[in-house]
Amino acid sequence: MKKTLFIILFAIATNCLNAQQTMQIRITNTSHQKISKYIYGHFAENLGRCIYDGFWVDSELNVPKDDRIRLDVINALKRIHIPDLRWPGGCYADQYHWSDGVGDRSTRPVRINTTWGMVSDDNSFGTDEFLKLCALLNCEPYIAGNVGTGTPHEMENWLEYLNYDGKSTLADLRRKNGHDRPYNVSLWGVGNESWGCGGQMTPEYYANEFKRYAEFCKNYPGTHLKKIASGANADDYNWTEVCMKNIPLWNMWGLSMHYYTIVNNWEHKGSATNFDEDEYFNGLKNCLHIEELINKHSAIMDKYDPHKNIALAVDEWGIWTDAEPGTNPAFLYQQNSLRDALIAATTLNIFNNHCDRVRMANLAQTVNVLQALILTDKEKMVLTPTYYVFDLYKYHQDATLLSLKFISPAYTFQNKSLEAINASASKDSSGIVHITLVNIDAHKNITVNTSLENLSVKNIEGEILTSQKFNDVNTFDEPNKVKAAVFSDFKKTVEGLSINLPPMSVVLITLK
Ligand code: AHR
Repeated sequence: MKKTLFIILFAIATNCLNAQQTMQIRITNTSHQKISKYIYGHFAENLGRCIYDGFWVDSELNVPKDDRIRLDVINALKRIHIPDLRWPGGCYADQYHWSDGVGDRSTRPVRINTTWGMVSDDNSFGTDEFLKLCALLNCEPYIAGNVGTGTPHEMENWLEYLNYDGKSTLADLRRKNGHDRPYNVSLWGVGNESWGCGGQMTPEYYANEFKRYAEFCKNYPGTHLKKIASGANADDYNWTEVCMKNIPLWNMWGLSMHYYTIVNNWEHKGSATNFDEDEYFNGLKNCLHIEELINKHSAIMDKYDPHKNIALAVDEWGIWTDAEPGTNPAFLYQQNSLRDALIAATTLNIFNNHCDRVRMANLAQTVNVLQALILTDKEKMVLTPTYYVFDLYKYHQDATLLSLKFISPAYTFQNKSLEAINASASKDSSGIVHITLVNIDAHKNITVNTSLENLSVKNIEGEILTSQKFNDVNTFDEPNKVKAAVFSDFKKTVEGLSINLPPMSVVLITLK
């Protein structure tokens, strides 16, 4: 197969009478950029029913378990190859004291989760339980350290407990608690949202705090820390500017940025299930805004770091709706619709296409909180439409980005319009090409005509995620309403390949 491949999709963005549109894409392999697997990371906070009653359940619950970790959840997540899991927060990170959560569970202190609903946290799930969870998931732990109410000494001790292999009281404590070998935790957050719940700091103050805390985050033999600075809230570009200017770049692996898709406004975010096309359109529009944020934060980072050594870590993202009626609003439990899957798929395409700078991202949050992959109710468990997106996209992890060129037809609603199609493509180490295409248009099929020149394709496969309505969801009574299925609405043509994307669909095309 030649190094450069072109898929030419021709296109005529016409509104036809049968609501059929046609477009063309050109794909080249000129980028040589790797799509970091960390873009496919997840986030599990001590919040609501994510850890407690999500991953970590009552010993009496009648599901397969390892200790109190429920294994049906683990097995589902293993299938999508989670590369890393972030814990204990979020906001909870800056009120969490790690020494509360190690040793004999019966003597661990009970603390109040003042951030999320003033509920008691018996600390039965602590450091060793989290590391066990990551081992079961076969993923890397990403720990967010406490800057807001912690001390550099406390952070230093936590790392010694986790990563030191020699003789010390803290390393011996880890051994006594059942883990002889060091955990080699390398992904390390220095605070969370330090501009807000993490301490209401100015960027200048935080940059100093980062330097003070980071100084005591030691690289024990065998583990080089990837320190991630607490970054901007959405479009707070000054935060990025000040951090990039004041933090020595050698001491920072990544700088974070948080962005949530809010349909309406923070007070009235919008229902997760009961919404019309106006809200559907707004949700997609606000999701697409993340590309502008990435471009602008990246441009600032480029000034200080032209070789792009520092990762932009979007370590919290996803749609945030009103909590489900009847649930504790502080638990952030929301249903998950086809719209949310389209938001996830679109965002991941944007991350892939910006993988030169975006080298980490963590969807908020894995189980029972915000844009969850999995919802649970006692013994029952349901995979959300968003889960299937991660299943379709897992092939992009650590693959080489292929650049796409295309002009999308418009998805028009009332007097507003968005690009209907977004897409990304990659080639894995065995030469297999994966293309993920999203049609967000609520009504129109769009046909993508491709040329497969320079590509010796013997086998073409497809998978699709779609449903009749944008607010279709999976429930405990009807768990399989929105799920991925085999897709065959493509055909080989003289020019190459013609793919018919139904409205509101995510399609994976695999070229072997
Ligand atoms: O994910 C929920 C919360 O959103 C996190 O705790 C916080 O970091 C962010 O504001």
